[in-house]
Amino acid sequence: MAITSSTPFRLDHLPAWHELSIHRTEIATQHMRDWFSSPSSQSRVERFSLSAAGLYLDYSKNRITDKTITLLAQLARDCDVVARRDAMWHGAPVNTSENRAALHIALRAPDDSAFRYLPNSVSDMVRSSLARMRKFAYAVRDGTWPGAIGKRIRHIVNIGIGGSDLGPRMVCDALTPFGSPQLTMHFIANIDATELARTLPQLDAEATLVVVCSKTFTTMETMTNAHTLRTWFIEQGIPEQEVGQHFVAVSNHVDAALAFGITRNHVFEFGEWVGGRYSLWSPIGLSIMLYLGPEHFDALLAGAHAMDQHFHDAPLEANMPVLLALIGIWYRNFFDAQTLSIAPYTDALLHLPPYLQQLDMESNGKSMQIDGRPVAWQTAPVIWGQPGSNGQHAYFQMLHQGTSLVPVDFIAVLTPQYPYDTHHRKLLANCFAQSQALMLGGSIDTSVQAKSSLAAQRCFEGNRPSNTLLIDALTPERMGALIALYEHKVFVQATIWHINPFDQWGVELGKTLSFAIEPALVSLDLLTHGTHDASTESLIRRAAAALNQT
Ligand code: F6P
Repeated sequence: MAITSSTPFRLDHLPAWHELSIHRTEIATQHMRDWFSSPSSQSRVERFSLSAAGLYLDYSKNRITDKTITLLAQLARDCDVVARRDAMWHGAPVNTSENRAALHIALRAPDDSAFRYLPNSVSDMVRSSLARMRKFAYAVRDGTWPGAIGKRIRHIVNIGIGGSDLGPRMVCDALTPFGSPQLTMHFIANIDATELARTLPQLDAEATLVVVCSKTFTTMETMTNAHTLRTWFIEQGIPEQEVGQHFVAVSNHVDAALAFGITRNHVFEFGEWVGGRYSLWSPIGLSIMLYLGPEHFDALLAGAHAMDQHFHDAPLEANMPVLLALIGIWYRNFFDAQTLSIAPYTDALLHLPPYLQQLDMESNGKSMQIDGRPVAWQTAPVIWGQPGSNGQHAYFQMLHQGTSLVPVDFIAVLTPQYPYDTHHRKLLANCFAQSQALMLGGSIDTSVQAKSSLAAQRCFEGNRPSNTLLIDALTPERMGALIALYEHKVFVQATIWHINPFDQWGVELGKTLSFAIEPALVSLDLLTHGTHDASTESLIRRAAAALNQT
């Protein structure tokens, strides 16, 4: 059933949805343990695993059968996933509320791939901005682009927040072994000054380059941090008229960057069709390119492009982002799973969970459909997690024995970045053991004499689902593929939920209200009684009293 604008869309009225609901009850009493103990369990692994763009996904430890996948794929078809994907590829305004295309895929389409369907203006812009970034990155890295006093740049400070921070921060940290040992990377995002105050003493102003990243160049946190940095340079003895040599801007709003005082040739521009949380491939990734070098940045793009190709070409049932999306929908909508835990088994991916929080929850945390009607089904789960094996010693208790079903994405790297083989073997053993324990369940109580109450507490019901993603090595290429995998997964889910993943109206109200609160914190004279609710007014009064004491 194709979706037409005249027919109110009801996901929960689609035949595949109905059949999935019936199938959910059929499957309710079945245990994955039994599927794995049957003689055909090897074929289960073969059927429910696949490789794409250098990543291997084993999704066999899920509460799914062949029928589940068939029905979910039918749901995807009924929701026009293929047509929506093609619309995105062709540069259609899939971001309907802002009437914009979402062309992050164009940013990583190689020069010679002739990004077939797009207007030349997009390809030309991508090509020329990459060329400028490369030229600049080479110059900073080889010292031919020095600071104002002529000193070679040694510190890069990325100022940005949300999509202008999380991607560059995650990639630089994940790929440290590929980074320049000559450069130290710093990231300042929050309006809380802790990160700023801790960073400044580490810097040498004469050898520091600040990359101010902001699509809008109006974001309060970023602008405040950028202004503070500018003052700091002057305090450090950089002549005011030379401070500009220490700043570059990355933005879609060139005028705002110029108004800040950044010269035109220090502004790296990108198109309106790049969303903040999809922007690390654009000039927003300049810090990544500075640190890793243009060749590694190209490899990052190539990895993402390989995943794009897979997403574009593979049939739905053998399509990694589609499968991840469908499995997510299975649990979110048919098992009422409220959350998805991300468990990367490497500290190098420390920033992956927060990155995916923005990608997933800012994209799909919506309760209105694209036509403005309320959804009658659940949308984005809460995304959370942290690297294993740390998480095992914190919250895994709840994953194994808690009352909520929490699907987990385990992500493991086969060849470690650092040659500590014993550590790595133990790490992988733990990763695989966790998904096994979640699936199998069992009892750790082997004593028949054990008191029954204790035995019950030491029992694991199992049947708890997970995916396992294996990456051969954490290289720029694989990192690109991994990020693109989740981008497309989120897109597929948005399409099925009939929501727009490319806007974020939900962040605006709080921002606006803060503008009315801040003046009152400067002076309570500016607080008109009754303007705010009683709770907020009381909080403002308490904070103002404390601030005025200091
Ligand atoms: O407030 C949310 C948000 O708009 C995100 O979507 C975005 O990634 C972030 O703020 C930063 O925005 P900008 O790049 O315009 O500073």
